[in-house]
Amino acid sequence: MASIPTPQPVPIRLEGIVKRFDHNVKGRIAAVDNVDISVAPGELLTLLGPSGCGKTTTLRMIAGFEHPTEGSIFIGDHDVTRLRANERNIGFVFQNYAIFPHLSVFENVAYGLRVQGRPEAEIRSAVEQVLDLVGLGGYGTQQPHQLSGGEQQRIALARAIVFQPRILMFDEPLSNLDAKLRGQMRGEIRELQKRLGITTVYVTHDQEEAMAISDRIAVMNHGSVVQIDTAEALYARPCNAFMANFIGKSNLLPGQVLQADARGAQVRVLDQTLQCLQAAPEVRAGDAVRVVVRPEQISLAPGGGPGSASVISRTFLGEKTEYQVQAGTATLHAVAYGAGASARLAEGQAVQVVLPAEGNAIIRD
Ligand SMILES: Nc1ncnc2c1ncn2[C@@H]1O[C@H](COP(=O)(O)OP(=O)(O)OP(=O)(O)O)[C@@H](O)[C@H]1O
Ligand SMILES: [Mg+2]
Repeated sequence: MASIPTPQPVPIRLEGIVKRFDHNVKGRIAAVDNVDISVAPGELLTLLGPSGCGKTTTLRMIAGFEHPTEGSIFIGDHDVTRLRANERNIGFVFQNYAIFPHLSVFENVAYGLRVQGRPEAEIRSAVEQVLDLVGLGGYGTQQPHQLSGGEQQRIALARAIVFQPRILMFDEPLSNLDAKLRGQMRGEIRELQKRLGITTVYVTHDQEEAMAISDRIAVMNHGSVVQIDTAEALYARPCNAFMANFIGKSNLLPGQVLQADARGAQVRVLDQTLQCLQAAPEVRAGDAVRVVVRPEQISLAPGGGPGSASVISRTFLGEKTEYQVQAGTATLHAVAYGAGASARLAEGQAVQVVLPAEGNAIIRD
């Protein structure tokens, strides 16, 4: 497959970034509020969060379409805070592709190079290389209306990389595609990004897409970064209740710390003693906390007796069966995969609930 020479990957650093807007309805708002983010050279970092949390505004500031009210942005060693977008050498892929309908595939990709007055031979070779790279080799003479949504998205991608940008940015690039194509395209974007080794910032509000495509994810809420880490770490150690419910599903079970040190905390929950991970800041004996237990970590076994719980509802979903279980005053969400005994519990049935003995995250809020 074709390859284009790419510059050395560069890091990106955002320091104390604030963006205030005068909003017609909300008044003066901080759309982005004191954000610090570092992206390593060649890394794909995703900004993930609910609608209106400031993802696009953050991305547009890195690209130079918007300027921060406070703070600094560095690309490599350069402070680019005051540079215009066209001085930053960034490839940007938008949600709506922004393709020229009257130009052929080739001319769509060539457009920016023509504006720069590059020689014809150079344009031809660069465009053909990137069309090959995005899987559109031979499509040069097609018109955009002759292409599928996925192929149009590939043109947008080709146009972003034909300049050999130092950085790639994506803002919800797959949201116009159907679910199957979304899955395929995200794999292709990731594969290409890895191959080119370009530092990339990707925006989505789709949690699964973020988990599938990213080296690390920065979860944002109300203009701030709540937690930034790998998908695995965010799932295993959410830092607060928002995170525990935003990445995957959680049971937040009230418990009391029996003893604790730097390595971990013993917590009493539902008459069970669990060895939990320490929180930050650390918890101490006697503290009231909540323990994060994922539905798939709960084991249910048929059986009454002391401490037994009862199945309130059962939902069969093919590869998994979801339950709601009443255990004392707590309502638990549990899920059983496969077709074993724990997938065949009935509503109203008495069950024993076993929580994972160790490794649970705890939160203090
Ligand atoms: N040009 C603007 N003028 C005024 N307010 C703005 C402007 N751009 C964004 N905002 C506000 O800033 C906040 C963050 O917007 P932003 O577009 O960054 O959110 P987002 O996380 O990308 O959301 P979505 O997932 O819906 O795209 C919102 O409250 C929005 O209304
Ligand atoms: Mg947005």
